[in-house]
Amino acid sequence: MRNAKIVIAGGSGFIGESLIKYFGNENKLIILSRNADNSQNNRNRFSLLSEPELKNVIYCHWDGKTLGDWYKQLEDTDILINLSGKSVNCRYTEKNKKDILNSRVDSTKILGEAIAKTKNPPKLWINASSATIYRHSTDKPQDEFTGEIENDFSVQVCKAWENTFYNQATPFTRKIALRMAITLGAGGIMIPYFNLLKFGLGGKQGNGKQMYSWVHIEDSCRMIEWFYEHHELEGTFNCASPYPVHNKEFMKTLRTISHTTFGLPAMKWMLQIGALLIGTETELVLKSRWVVPTRILETGFQFKYPLLSDALAEVFNNTPKNLYRIF
Ligand SMILES: NC(=O)c1ccc[n+]([C@@H]2O[C@H](COP(=O)([O-])OP(=O)(O)OC[C@H]3O[C@@H](n4cnc5c(N)ncnc54)[C@H](OP(=O)(O)O)[C@@H]3O)[C@@H](O)[C@H]2O)c1
Repeated sequence: MRNAKIVIAGGSGFIGESLIKYFGNENKLIILSRNADNSQNNRNRFSLLSEPELKNVIYCHWDGKTLGDWYKQLEDTDILINLSGKSVNCRYTEKNKKDILNSRVDSTKILGEAIAKTKNPPKLWINASSATIYRHSTDKPQDEFTGEIENDFSVQVCKAWENTFYNQATPFTRKIALRMAITLGAGGIMIPYFNLLKFGLGGKQGNGKQMYSWVHIEDSCRMIEWFYEHHELEGTFNCASPYPVHNKEFMKTLRTISHTTFGLPAMKWMLQIGALLIGTETELVLKSRWVVPTRILETGFQFKYPLLSDALAEVFNNTPKNLYRIF
């Protein structure tokens, strides 16, 4: 894809930076951020972007909830991607729960209002969602057609997020909700995993039988390009490799590709104490996410990294070792 105008709301995080790496060389990118000062020393310490990679990137201030002049950036946009949202990697206190929900719903709503104000609205709007919208599943895979949706906190967030997205009237903008599985790349979730390996804690988590749906970040980027090129596609898509694995297999593959011979398992009670200590929730590792990408496969899309071992090897080889730190 070349010479496209791509606006990424919440594009300063892990997935946004990966999209900049993938699209930034040959396209014009505008990042909507609550902190538009993207100087090197102000960037997230896990940032993998070098100054040359930012040559076609402009950062523009917004607050993720109110309309401002930033809406003009959406004029003549080829793809608008919304990734905004408070990280779910925190304790689910009432305050955090409210922030997790509102940051997703508010940013989606205000982007809909901004599109309505443009003369030449974006051609395509891709809004992040999550594969965690499907129920805890140990019996069968969940897809876009027959997947079952329950009602715990994170599912409620995803439902409200997608409902807000589809409720925005954007008659001239094609819309896709991308239910992303755990995304593997040089950053994001892989940093805590590499730290666990370093401390000999790279064994199975809980009973290890929970399913782990994942996708390599390059396939997420390739999928977005595919959506742009295939004008007939719209609606909800799972963004997950066709071959999810059990947690036990995920951890074993991680040990193999990193040449780690030993990994202590973490029992559920240990995870509960650990999660409390580092301020997160055990749901993030214990929920059985068994999600498959039926719709995208039906369109003829081929994954570059369908297999976990190839995906993890690529990520391990390309993650700067200085990113792992002692918590
Ligand atoms: N990474 C995954 O494995 C994964 C899996 C499933 C779904 N997702 C979803 O995909 C999206 C992007 O994921 P990511 O890993 O790139 O997340 P991330 O690194 O946490 O980045 C999200 C961005 O959202 C913005 N943000 C944070 N709090 C906000 C708030 N209160 N209001 C408005 N904006 C806020 C931040 O941008 P500024 O600070 O610059 O404003 C941040 O850079 C998220 O919505 C996430 O839930 C991710």
